[in-house]
Amino acid sequence: MMEEKKRVKIKELLLNGQVGSDVLAKGWVRTRRGNKSVAFIALNDGSTINNIQVVVDVQNFDENLLKDINTGACIGVNGKLVESPGSGQRVEIQVASIELYGAADATTYPLQKKGHSMEFLREIAHLRPRTNTFGAVLRIRHAMAYAIHKYFNDKGFYYIHTPIITASDAEGAGAMFKVTTLDVNALPRTEDGKIDWSEDFFGKEANLTVSGQLEGELAAMALSEIYTFGPTFRAENSNTPRHLAEFWMIEPEMAFYDIKDNMDLAEDFLKYLIRYALDNCMDDLDFLNKMYDNELIDRLKFVIENKFERLAYTKAIDILEKVDQKWEFPVFWGADLQAEHERYLVEKHFKKPVILTDYPKEIKAFYMKQNDDGKTVRAMDVLFPKIGEIIGGSQREEVYEKLLGKIAEMHIPEKDMWWYLDTRKFGTAPHSGFGLGFERLLLFVTGMSNIRDVIPFPRSPKNCEF
Ligand code: 4AD
Ligand code: MG
Repeated sequence: MMEEKKRVKIKELLLNGQVGSDVLAKGWVRTRRGNKSVAFIALNDGSTINNIQVVVDVQNFDENLLKDINTGACIGVNGKLVESPGSGQRVEIQVASIELYGAADATTYPLQKKGHSMEFLREIAHLRPRTNTFGAVLRIRHAMAYAIHKYFNDKGFYYIHTPIITASDAEGAGAMFKVTTLDVNALPRTEDGKIDWSEDFFGKEANLTVSGQLEGELAAMALSEIYTFGPTFRAENSNTPRHLAEFWMIEPEMAFYDIKDNMDLAEDFLKYLIRYALDNCMDDLDFLNKMYDNELIDRLKFVIENKFERLAYTKAIDILEKVDQKWEFPVFWGADLQAEHERYLVEKHFKKPVILTDYPKEIKAFYMKQNDDGKTVRAMDVLFPKIGEIIGGSQREEVYEKLLGKIAEMHIPEKDMWWYLDTRKFGTAPHSGFGLGFERLLLFVTGMSNIRDVIPFPRSPKNCEF
């Protein structure tokens, strides 16, 4: 018996495989065509969006084996790598032997045909990684995660793992998911009829975190420059193409940075990530550009080549108030900006990414540094074309008394926040940070139009199947 050769990934074969060598490739059949004497199989193993063509001399093979080799089947092919006379690829495999690992019944395999809608593919999220589109999205998602760690590591930032279960509900970033081991059908009650959380696993109410920022700040007050990159959870019932109930967030936090340093970092970081995608994911971007959004690559290049516009919220309101357009949400000083306003500023007015600063204190979180005007805080939101808000952040209030005052004003229980307040009590320092929504970044980089299509298993209201 011949010793089994080592399998080579298809990406490697297409790029560097030596013509004339004997090779072993394994993967899933994308298509099969041909006639009575020769069959052409397009084989893909996910290492690249490109398939390798496998050529089978039909008369040398058992009919029973070949009939099972159709779209979706998983096979291994042994053969000679030869120059491909056909268009589009350098090499193809002239098959000597085939092993069938798993057939996929043509009448029931859901991806038998091409061109399914995104909505349908969401219903078969367990199989959609096998499509070209999701293969491309998942490879880009990986590349962006890697680039994020590389960017911060190269800059001397430390990766901090902040907790996923938390007892603090101070951020106010959104409704929280409760974590409990209590029997929901027989909740323990206190004498006044309230739920007795002291009986629960942690002896108090606990939730899934909406952000790693507050714990990230604790680490920045010791290691200077840190970042978190983890899952976050928000239970708001927002059924939009830009919201998930479970999403990933990157949150750098830096001692000694003011709001300007914070903006500089955010702009540099986003440009680095987009450039990384252009330098390393071009096969997948070309595919997405061709299939979904023929301005995608131009838009990515445009963003890295142009300086982001920076302006204060108050100036943005001035601009929006003068626009002759019917808004779904009214524009006035003090209003929280909605995606329609953000996208107008970015896409119509400035025609480039915008960083808005100095928002009214009433619409922003308690920890943001108060400006001297008594009305605004040192917040910054980065707004992107097609997305709206991609980053939210601020300089932090580092003065103990001011922070304490704000906590009281916003009715945040001081007893839950003693550990956070301690940072301002002992060795406080000016500091800043921001949060980048990982899936919002991916929406921008892939050109997909729904956030549920850039995460393997999306969590949104009434959607938790897989
Ligand atoms: O603006 P947000 O709520 O800010 C914070 O959570 C701060 N603690 C960040 C910080 O300063 N460290 O959220 C930050 C980003 C948003 O700009 C957006 O990109 C993303 O997280 N985001 C969501 N992405 C998907 N689905 C949701 N429901 C999101 N909510 C926020
Ligand atoms: Mg925000």
